[in-house]
Amino acid sequence: MHIDIISVIPELMDSFLHHSILKRAQVKGHLTVNTIALRPFGIGNSKQVDDYQYGGDAGMVMMCQPLADCIESLLTQRSYDEIIYLCPDGQTYNQKMANALSLKGNLMMICGHYKGIDERIREKYVTLEISIGDYVLSGGEIAAVTLVDSIGRIIPGVINDEASALSDSFQDGLLSPPVYTRPETWEGITVPEVLLSGHKQKIDEWKYEQAILRTKERRPDLLE
Ligand code: ADE
Repeated sequence: MHIDIISVIPELMDSFLHHSILKRAQVKGHLTVNTIALRPFGIGNSKQVDDYQYGGDAGMVMMCQPLADCIESLLTQRSYDEIIYLCPDGQTYNQKMANALSLKGNLMMICGHYKGIDERIREKYVTLEISIGDYVLSGGEIAAVTLVDSIGRIIPGVINDEASALSDSFQDGLLSPPVYTRPETWEGITVPEVLLSGHKQKIDEWKYEQAILRTKERRPDLLE
């Protein structure tokens, strides 16, 4: 999979993209991620990318031409399965969307800043608008790396123990059961006995019950 991310401040995403599982995904050749600085596509000597909004409200808007030039330059190199704009008024992101996106070949992501991007760019180029939750971020970068991380980790072959990605919370519509590691007893609290039994079927049953219980308590909406 290849992902291009357009941003005014691409450096914001560097650390996320070059560590841990995303690093592994890229080293193993399952994923390439390219961040593209919008500023060089800006207008005039100051490389302007934003301007006052029509209608007089406070807050700047990212202009059409720099974004269009940047997008068009990427479109000369490849076609994209989706051109995604990260914005608070997009579809709310979830695991199902991550699963679907992980099966795509090429994705472009556009990070907004200030009051967002000119509506005409959304109309002309954007095929999917995604929000990572009902709150407003200063820019789309955190949302973009959230998508890349959640997509990258489930590309087949990225996580060694594939069962591990499949048993994540939400993959089966349930929250994950509690997990424990050594020592067996810590501050007088002991790991549930069934987990030490070595009895695979009993352990699986216990995990399933716990997952149901946890989901009922914390996210009953997932069971509806
Ligand atoms: N940009 C600003 N807020 C956002 C959000 N909640 N999700 C995605 N992109 C955003």
